[in-house]
Amino acid sequence: MPLFERNRLRDTEEILGTDAATRALSVTVVENDFVERVYNKVASVYDWTYGPTLHPGRMQAIQRMGIQPGERVLEVGVGTGINLSLYPRDCPVTGIDFSGQMLEKARDRVAGKGLGNVRLLEMDAADLKFADGTFDIVYAPYVISVVPDPVTVAREMYRVCRSGGRVIILNHFRSPQALLARIERAICPFTIHIGFKSDLDLPAFLTQTDLKPVSIEKVNVPRIWSLITCIKD
Ligand SMILES: C[S@@+](CC[C@H](N)C(=O)[O-])C[C@H]1O[C@@H](n2cnc3c(N)ncnc32)[C@H](O)[C@@H]1O
Repeated sequence: MPLFERNRLRDTEEILGTDAATRALSVTVVENDFVERVYNKVASVYDWTYGPTLHPGRMQAIQRMGIQPGERVLEVGVGTGINLSLYPRDCPVTGIDFSGQMLEKARDRVAGKGLGNVRLLEMDAADLKFADGTFDIVYAPYVISVVPDPVTVAREMYRVCRSGGRVIILNHFRSPQALLARIERAICPFTIHIGFKSDLDLPAFLTQTDLKPVSIEKVNVPRIWSLITCIKD
């Protein structure tokens, strides 16, 4: 076991550095244009490919939010709007995304299901056009490992959440197990072409964002996704 741990440390040091406050979160770097193109392409098949398998985590996140009547919810990276009918109808929900094709699907869904409590806006998650403290709940389902700059996005989410509100992140992060972590790093340059980085570093992410989770739960099957709940100070 100690040998295993040493190998893991050496591998991480060589690739990303030792200091969680400064090391890169992933071996793969992407730009907004690239991500937008990927999601514009996958929009037509998204609900089939990323729908059912990732749904238990979405359901658990909604439960964990404990949404009260009238609370204002922001969903960052709303995509095709797969979560939108899960929110109570008496809560105003804002969904933002920067992929026109994904948003078009979301608009169809909102119209089809008559979700009058939902508004959809085209916006970059790293530059939210809302005043500080606008929302009671700010939620990013399966988005943080997609965006080029996860730290800026998390800081923006925190900024637009009111004091005492909830910031919720549902995402896959790199495994703490050495072998799995190596595989996740090795495949990351490929997984980015289907829309996510497989090797995002959770300890470094939390250190660099200053987020202090009140809980981190493992969700989905296999349980390799994390549901992170934070309360804003
Ligand atoms: C994996 S999908 C998640 C969709 C949905 N939240 C879900 O639960 O399945 C990621 C979404 O984030 C969006 N996205 C990626 N980077 C973004 C950014 N910088 N700003 C806004 N949306 C972004 C993509 O267009 C895509 O719709």
